Amino acid sequence: MALRTLASLGSLAGKRVIVRVDFNVPLKEGVITDDGRIRAALPTLNYLINQGARIIACSHLGRPDGAPDPKYSLEPVAQRLSELLGKRVAFAGDTVGDAAQSTAAGLADGEVAVIENLRFDPGETAKDEGERRAFAEQLAALGEALVSDGFGVVHRKQASVYELAEILPSAAGFLIEKEVDVLDRLTENPERPYAVVLGGSKVSDKLGVIEHLLPRANKILVGGGMAYTFLAAQGFKVGKSLLEADQFDTVKGYIAKADELGVELILPVDSVMASAFSADADHVVAQADALEDTPYGPEGMGLDIGPATERIFADAITSSRTVFWNGPMGVFEMPAFASGTKAVAQALTEVNGLSVVGGGDSAAAVRQLGFTDDQFGHISTGGGASLEFLEGKKLPGLEVLGWEG
Ligand code: 3PG
Repeated sequence: MALRTLASLGSLAGKRVIVRVDFNVPLKEGVITDDGRIRAALPTLNYLINQGARIIACSHLGRPDGAPDPKYSLEPVAQRLSELLGKRVAFAGDTVGDAAQSTAAGLADGEVAVIENLRFDPGETAKDEGERRAFAEQLAALGEALVSDGFGVVHRKQASVYELAEILPSAAGFLIEKEVDVLDRLTENPERPYAVVLGGSKVSDKLGVIEHLLPRANKILVGGGMAYTFLAAQGFKVGKSLLEADQFDTVKGYIAKADELGVELILPVDSVMASAFSADADHVVAQADALEDTPYGPEGMGLDIGPATERIFADAITSSRTVFWNGPMGVFEMPAFASGTKAVAQALTEVNGLSVVGGGDSAAAVRQLGFTDDQFGHISTGGGASLEFLEGKKLPGLEVLGWEG
């Protein structure tokens, strides 16, 4: 069965429509540092506004412990949403209480409200299905239909993602529709050559993706902290670089499997070794087989891929027709170690085909490094969700909308 899309709900004019979005944005001292997820919800929200629906947007933010916590309030998000929509957005200071009920009931056609963080109620994330359902029933009372558009949370079986979609007439919004369409193209018949670029700190976070995509890709490029486990598994010394020694056998298995399938597994040939994990640490470039032959010896740590690796990765990326990238190549938050991530991002913008940036860190990295969303084929709003999709897992928030993969 295919994903139920917005059209399946018919006319929503004059109806109270709950829109489950993912407004889990990074905040620093109450200020939103990346509003990408709010912007990603705009096409669906504007469509519903133009239809004359009465919109009750709801989301989680962070991981509060099932009780109100001002640090995780959605109020700043509602303000930002109002700026982006160019219209008033009402804010209800609770989830299903008096404030939410009266705000929802008071909406006129085309008006928008945001209710408080769903995870302030223990029912949202409860392990017990009955507790989740009870909370979903209370949420359902606020509206007449559900548009599910929080792609970043579809891998969670939570009340507003799953049970609510069973209770109310429900369909996917435009964001979920687009995410599923693009990510599906990365697993089913991608245009070739197909390159998968993986970075970030841990191999253990990427095992499922490597396993699922290794037989589907033509090239797998590994950078970031996780690359040192691959280099160490091949017998290279890596100093104090990130290392998951318990993954050696797994990683060796991947190297053997890639060889057997004729997939190019491309590892760094050089690295930026630093004297310490700090923005102003001394650093030098070292060859992958001589990472401890620097002034810092075994105390050195790799914080970025080196310039030769940048060139090799950029060539492998720009010569591909489909590229998926997840995970920074180094500690991009520190300018001295951002070059590798920047080079990979730049190469993705030059792909003659489909380029997809996946995962919270990589999406934040490209924006922080000055790239804009329209330079890429698609920037996924999902971190865990996009990875689990690419691992071939069943995602409850999509299955409940009719998606069978
Ligand atoms: C995310 O940031 O990946 C989503 O918003 C899901 O958040 P969670 O990992 O706290 O469920």
